[in-house]
Amino acid sequence: MQGRLTELFKWLHRHPETGLQEHETTRKIRETLESHGIEVLDSGLATGLIAVLHGEGEGRAAPVIGLRADIDALPVAEESGLPYASENPGCMHACGHDFHAACILGAALMLHERRREWRGTVKVVFQPAEEIDRGGLLVMQTGLTDDCRLFLAGHTSAGMPVGTLGVKEGPVMAAVDRFEVTLRGSGCHAAHPHKGVDPVPALGAVLQSLQTIVSRSMDPFAPRLVSVTHVEAGSTWNVIPETAFFEGTVRTLDAADRELAERRFREIVGGTAAAYGVTAQIGWTRGSPAVVNDAGLCALARRVAGECGLLTCLQENTMGAEDFSRYAQGRPGLFVRIGTGGTYPAHHPKFTVDPQALYPAAQFFTELAMACLRLEE
Ligand code: NI
Repeated sequence: MQGRLTELFKWLHRHPETGLQEHETTRKIRETLESHGIEVLDSGLATGLIAVLHGEGEGRAAPVIGLRADIDALPVAEESGLPYASENPGCMHACGHDFHAACILGAALMLHERRREWRGTVKVVFQPAEEIDRGGLLVMQTGLTDDCRLFLAGHTSAGMPVGTLGVKEGPVMAAVDRFEVTLRGSGCHAAHPHKGVDPVPALGAVLQSLQTIVSRSMDPFAPRLVSVTHVEAGSTWNVIPETAFFEGTVRTLDAADRELAERRFREIVGGTAAAYGVTAQIGWTRGSPAVVNDAGLCALARRVAGECGLLTCLQENTMGAEDFSRYAQGRPGLFVRIGTGGTYPAHHPKFTVDPQALYPAAQFFTELAMACLRLEE
């Protein structure tokens, strides 16, 4: 199995495709599943797919659970120097989604081979477009995962050695919101500021004040952040511009903090703009919610990891986003970190994962899925 998964992983690594372009990737996964007699559901997804496995163990029908891998790559030019490096210029599996796909495919094959040992149904999602926060919603919209009682997934972790698994109860990845603001004054000659309304001082004041959302409005014991990442105003030295623009992101782990951050943001931007005599047009886009791990599933994962010879450690929080959270809305979810070795962080052009981590991780998800089904019976 390790050999088969490594071969598959290297194929996927050589053929990366970005979000919603994963046609070859989907074809490869479908072929592999179908060649083993595993049913692929008619989901209507253009890329990505949902497979279904039925246990044939003795006893009454057991519940449905979900297992999810993401399959998309990034628009990054690979510099890993690997013999199986990307053959698609400017595109790279720099976040290990090739590993996720191979690992969960391995779990699907093993669950299928061992189908007489368990009962119930496992829906296996190979999700497109995680990096652009689209795929999770697209899969949800098929309605095919509505009957899943819980969802399981994992992510590569470059900072952790092969053979380790990061697990932690509660929020582990952030809810991600994006803002875009235009402050509108009235342009004029730089020599006659009193003839217009300059949006630039308002911009400066707003940028400073926004940092008080975290530092003054929120409990200092929990992580959250406001980052302004793009600012624009004016085009030359002697003209006061009509508008000033900025955008950025707010990241929170707690749902109440998420609401509070948006409310304070609107108050600060609106109030400061008014004080400077400019208007503010605020665009607010809610991205995926925080990834929150179910405590019971974490306990189960630790036990199963031990049985599979994996060493568990405390998963680190990150303020990054993961649309796995979409699956875990209103039902238990578990998102673990898989130690995959390597020196460079995810999204780096020299990012690598050690294929030796494939089989242990696939075995872990196989055993975990069976343990979940036994519990849910
Ligand atoms: Ni990723």
